Amino acid sequence: MLFFGALIGLFSASLAFGSPVELEERAVNANYLFTAFTSASESNLYVYTSSDATAFSLLKGPAYTPSSGLIRDPSVILHTDGKYYIAYTTDWTGTNFAIATSSDAQTWSLHATISTASSTITPVNTWAPEFFKDTKTGKLNIVVSLSTGSYGPFLPYVFTASDSTLKNWSGPVVMSGISNAGLGYIDTFPVLLGNTYHIFTKAETNGQKHIEHATASSLTGPYTFQQTGDFAGWGQAEGPSVTQLSNGSYRIYMDGYSSGKYTYSDSADLYTWSAPQTVPNLSGTVRHGTVLKQ
Ligand SMILES: *[C@@H]1O[C@H](CO)[C@@H](O)[C@H](O)[C@H]1NC(C)=O
Ligand SMILES: *[C@@H]1O[C@H](CO)[C@@H](O)[C@H](O)[C@H]1NC(C)=O
Ligand SMILES: *[C@@H]1O[C@H](CO)[C@@H](O)[C@H](O)[C@H]1NC(C)=O
Repeated sequence: MLFFGALIGLFSASLAFGSPVELEERAVNANYLFTAFTSASESNLYVYTSSDATAFSLLKGPAYTPSSGLIRDPSVILHTDGKYYIAYTTDWTGTNFAIATSSDAQTWSLHATISTASSTITPVNTWAPEFFKDTKTGKLNIVVSLSTGSYGPFLPYVFTASDSTLKNWSGPVVMSGISNAGLGYIDTFPVLLGNTYHIFTKAETNGQKHIEHATASSLTGPYTFQQTGDFAGWGQAEGPSVTQLSNGSYRIYMDGYSSGKYTYSDSADLYTWSAPQTVPNLSGTVRHGTVLKQ
């Protein structure tokens, strides 16, 4: 599995250096960038950096407060234009999420507000938009949790960028094979390993509130659950975010919300995970965000 990691690394490096416009030169000189909101406010973005994905220091916080609404669940990418973009939850209820941009990860401005209402769904809740660069198809996607009822049931839906402006998106397309029984699934985070799409997604139903693992051969599914319940001993958690470490292993970060802890766990193959550990310094402060390896 390390082998696949190395291959993916080579593939993205060759993509990155394909042409000047593809060059994603990191504007912030750090191996990892972490965007989060904190237990103190749902309307402030905090940005942290790290050299090893374990010890994080504050780069800027608050770094961005939207003119109205929330900034929960900020998901960060470094785009082909050399700028950072976050997608985030704008409110507890509603039919949109938003995208903000920054050239230095410290000063942010609103880039676009994306409607999640379509002919197929008018969601009551639009939660946790998660950027996903698909290195198999070359497309940039956002996976977002949409609820057809009030606070459930939720399912993950995919939006795909129509162009590089990140203002025009097609979708939503539901990820199939996932049950919306009870309250369904929220906070879906995709990872491509080899030719397989893996998702880590929180079973919201019946008080389970565990992050489960499913796989598919295409981003929109159909997905088959591989590991369910508290399979990795993570306990009740939400907001999973997976990043790759420099040795090729994967690290998942999770928001323990009710435990008040922010934890991580490592895996070489996305199936077998180390015992969860708290993120030093930030556990108890940060809430659902993403760690970008850059
Ligand atoms: C892309 O989005 C911009 C800004 O919302 C809009 O003006 C433009 O018409 C859109 N382009 C397409 C092809 O939809
Ligand atoms: C990579 O490093 C992490 C963090 O130190 C460790 O948990 C993991 O076992 C390492 N993976 C490999 C394949 O050496
Ligand atoms: C972070 O946590 C470590 C271990 O608990 C501690 O030694 C260090 O002083 C802390 N750093 C900051 C900036 O708080």
